[in-house]
Formats: sequence, structure tokens, C-alpha cells
Amino acid sequence: MNTQTNFDLILFGATGDLAMRKLIPCLYQAHAAGLLHPEGRILGVSRSEFDTAAFLKKVESDSKIHIKNHFSDELWKTFVARIQYLTVDATRPETFLALGETVNARKNTDNVIVYLSTAPKFFTPICENLAAIGLNNEKVRIVLEKPLGTDLKSSQEINAAVGAFYQEKQIYRIDHYLGKESLQNLLALRFANIMFEPLWNNKYLKSVQLTIAEQLGVEERGEFYDITGALRDMVQNHLMQMLCMTAMEKPASLDADAVRDEKLKVIKSLKPLSLKDVEQNVVRGQYTPGEKDGIRLNGYLEEHQVPPESRTETYVAIKAEIQNQRWAGVPFYLRTGKRMAGKVAEIVLNFHDLDNHIFENSQSAPNRLVIELQPTESIRLYTQVKTPGAGNRVETTALSVDMGQAIEGRRAEAYERLLLDVINGKLALFNRRDELEAAWEWVMPIMENWSQSLNPPHGYTADSWGPEAARALLARDGNLWHEEQ
Ligand code: BG6
Repeated sequence: MNTQTNFDLILFGATGDLAMRKLIPCLYQAHAAGLLHPEGRILGVSRSEFDTAAFLKKVESDSKIHIKNHFSDELWKTFVARIQYLTVDATRPETFLALGETVNARKNTDNVIVYLSTAPKFFTPICENLAAIGLNNEKVRIVLEKPLGTDLKSSQEINAAVGAFYQEKQIYRIDHYLGKESLQNLLALRFANIMFEPLWNNKYLKSVQLTIAEQLGVEERGEFYDITGALRDMVQNHLMQMLCMTAMEKPASLDADAVRDEKLKVIKSLKPLSLKDVEQNVVRGQYTPGEKDGIRLNGYLEEHQVPPESRTETYVAIKAEIQNQRWAGVPFYLRTGKRMAGKVAEIVLNFHDLDNHIFENSQSAPNRLVIELQPTESIRLYTQVKTPGAGNRVETTALSVDMGQAIEGRRAEAYERLLLDVINGKLALFNRRDELEAAWEWVMPIMENWSQSLNPPHGYTADSWGPEAARALLARDGNLWHEEQ
């Protein structure tokens, strides 16, 4: 599909980490696949005093290395020809004038995309300054990178400030997990098949686990991470979106608002957490020194730019409940952590045990459906089959599909898919304001409890599966985390 949408993409924060590692490489992939309008331009902007040649040098050294597939010198040459650079300081209106002239000089653009890959404190001045040069007309789409605020209030302020210049249909709030093919496939699994949906409820399911585990620590992002923490970095957004996609009702269509209405209903149906619930149902952890393959791993407090007395969480586990007819009584266990023993993002649906068993040994192995989002994209349904030979024993085996092998086709990275959706004006995979604020509202009691609590985070050894308290959270309900099942 060649989009015939002729665009200008203004990339604020163009010299930053996200632009170099993800956005520019993903735009290259879209270019290489022939998905960008031949005249579409990328206008990199930031405070740095570069000219286009100096910026392209940086792109060459810092961004090109992140292109894993389909690289060709020829295509790279035609790709970088799309790029221009302009020095713009978010807080100095006069520096926006040249940007306005560059954009307005071209009369045949269908839309102007403004991607704000900057700290959220710059969103408001950038919007004001864009409006002053006329870049808030109906052609403009504005993309907001997470984190969108640090709590409900700041997120409302950002939304109000951006909303003063742009209509909701012009605002694309990014959560890159929604761009992952495997998360979108969940909707197909549930709503394009007859066999899963009837079982997708409290009658058949005992519990649901959502995990995003990372092996890396905070690396060079200590300064950002220490004021952010896992709750804001991963739970309020990525895990919440996984929860919504897993638990939502079937939307009337795949139109943006139909999907977003159903996701919002899930967040609104989450049982609000009292401060006491937080103590009982939420575990915060922080990694302590460990070892992997004979190499010592730093504890969080030893990481670059992390204050030695920091209480920032690098791990969170939550037992959540959804108060509606489908899910009442089914605990949803959410967890995420850095420096864990494996890198995996997955959704695990644990079925109830059978009421009556006629085989010799099947009591302890209820069915389980595992949807792995990464590192591989796969679906495994754990079922009981008879052990060959005499006797009536059964054993567990997985009916397993590796999507990458089963289905041919280019699998775009999340950011590529999302960037193309912005260019093409498709809002379904972006958060609506009410959704985002509802998610903040739900996590607020957790932040409040932690800010008042005298208890430090639970320690867990780097390269482990998290603190003992998280294991106890499930054990209380007679459940185990997936790696122990
Ligand atoms: C980002 C977080 O949003 O998601 C990072 O800021 C995290 O801390 C990353 O590492 C994880 O994304 P993915 O796609 O690698 O699972």
C-alpha cells in the first residue's frame, strides 16, 4: 500500500535517544518498503545548533546502526534526502519562524505531523509557539510521546494545554505497545474466532497474568528513571493497554472510538484501590546486586545518576480486579520489572481445574493459554494428552504456534506502524484523553501510598524473577507466577 498522503513530519527532540534509536530507523523501514509518499519530508528540530549536514552526520553515526533489516546504501541515500534540520528552541518563539516558513513554503502537503519527543514540560510552550506561526490549522496532527505527565493532575494540565490549540481528533498519544503486532493480534484471536471468546470469562478462567519483564537494568537512563519509576514508566501505560486489550468487550467495529470506548470501560471497571488495598495488593521492588554468567550486576542504587538513598521502584506487581459480569472474581496479576531473569512480555490465561477427573493424575494441570508478545510472537495452549502405552495417565503438552513462522509477511516495528497510522490519520491505536486520565486516576492511590509509606521497596536480586513478596501475593490466592507453573 502506497500512502498517497504527502506529509511534513516535524520531529521535536530529533537529536534525542528515541529519535535516533527508533523513530528514524522506523521511518527508514517505511521508506524502504515504499510506504512513504515520494515527497514526504522529515524536518528534524531541536535546540542543538546544527545545520542539516551536521544533523545527517549524527543520523549516520547514531541512527543507522539501529537499522536491522532491509538496509541498502541506495535506499539510505534516497531516505536521507527527505531529511532537513532546523534549530528550534521550544521556549523561544522567534526560533519558530524559520520552521513556519519552511512548512508554509510547500503548498501541496496533505498534512503536517508534529511529533513531540521531548520532556513533557516543553509540550505547552511548543504548542503555543506552533499556534503563533499558524501550525495549529486542521492539517496538523500532533503526536505526544509518553510519559504524558507524572500524575493525574499534570496529565490533565498537559491535555488541557494541548487541547487549547488542537482538537482531540488531531492528537495522537503514543503507547508503543499498541503498535505491537502481537497485541493487535489478540483482538483477532478473540473476535475473529468462535472458539476462544466463549471461554474468555470468569466461568472458565481462574486468573490472568500480564507480564513485561526486562533483563536490562536502567542503563544510562538513571536520571530519567529515578524520577519516573516502573509504575509511571510501564504500568500506567503499557501494562494498562495489555489489560484493556485482554479484558475489553467486542467493539461494534474497529473504528477508533469504538475500540477506545471499550478500553475505557475496562479501566473504569477496575476496582479502585484504597490505600489499604495498595498495602495488600501491590508490591514494589528494587533490584539489588546480582550475578549473571560470572559477571557482577549492579544493584539499582549503584547505577549511574541514581541517588544512593533512592526508593524508586524498578519492579511492580499488582493484583487488580475488574468489576463487571465477565470478570468478577478473576484476579488480574500485573507485573513488570527491570533486571529480571528473562525478557518476556506475555499474557497468561489460567483456566479452572475440571470438576471431575477420570484420569489417574490430571488434577494439578488445568489448561493454560499463553500469548507471548515478545521475544517471540507465539500462542501456546497447554492441554492434557494421554501418555503413550498402558495405563491412564495424561501429561501436559502445548499446542503451539510461532506467528513469525506460521504467517508470512513483513512484521513492522511498533513505531513504524504507529508513524504510518499518524500519516494516514488512523487514531485507533492511540490513547484518547479520557482513557489516559482514567488510567492515571487508577494508579494514583499507589503513588500516594508509596509517598507516605515508611517501608522501602522490597529488594530482589538482579537476574531473578522479582521479590519474594510478589510470590506471596499470588500464593495467598493459591496461585503461582507463570515461570513456576
Ligand atoms: C519504554 C520504557 O516505554 O518501554 C522503557 O520507557 C522500556 O523503560 C521500554 O524499556 C520497553 O519496550 P519494549 O518494546 O522493549 O518492551
